[in-house]
Amino acid sequence: MRERSPVDFGFGYSPFTMRIGSLELNSNLFLSPLAGYTNLPFRLTLRKVGGLDLATTDLVNARSLLEKNPKAFKLIETCPADRPLAVQLFGSVPEEMRDAAQFLESKGVSAVDNQHGLPGAQGVPRRGRLSHDDRTGQDGQPG
Ligand SMILES: Cc1cc2nc3c(=O)[nH]c(=O)nc-3n(C[C@H](O)[C@H](O)[C@H](O)COP(=O)(O)O)c2cc1C
Repeated sequence: MRERSPVDFGFGYSPFTMRIGSLELNSNLFLSPLAGYTNLPFRLTLRKVGGLDLATTDLVNARSLLEKNPKAFKLIETCPADRPLAVQLFGSVPEEMRDAAQFLESKGVSAVDNQHGLPGAQGVPRRGRLSHDDRTGQDGQPG
């Protein structure tokens, strides 16, 4: 069990502990999702360097996860030393996002990071983004 500082400067933040909802973190240094990079070996390597607490996976397609696609499962590969872990989900169907998040919760994932679109990003299909227009049932393009 890691030591937690008793220091708290309000709003759940201190230089040593931080809260996101019920998730208590020992560092304010996060690993952002980097598609193609933030796989399990990369995360474990950075955790060994030290200072890092919450790390995030590559972005993972919610539907692929629900369909148990091996590539999606590879992206969420983890181990006990790889905690706390957030999985970044993307998709355009709210129910699939919900079901995938519940599946991840049942697997012990600490948090789900919803990817709502990277304007101009390469490799992220426009139809795969949850956008304002998706939610209002319009043209499916980012709002
Ligand atoms: C190669 C690369 C891949 C990235 N992939 C993702 C991604 O999958 N999801 C995401 O939300 N952001 C992605 N980002 C954005 C980063 O997570 C981060 O927000 C951005 O690099 C800004 O970080 P900085 O403020 O520390 O410079 C990516 C950035 C890079 C450079």
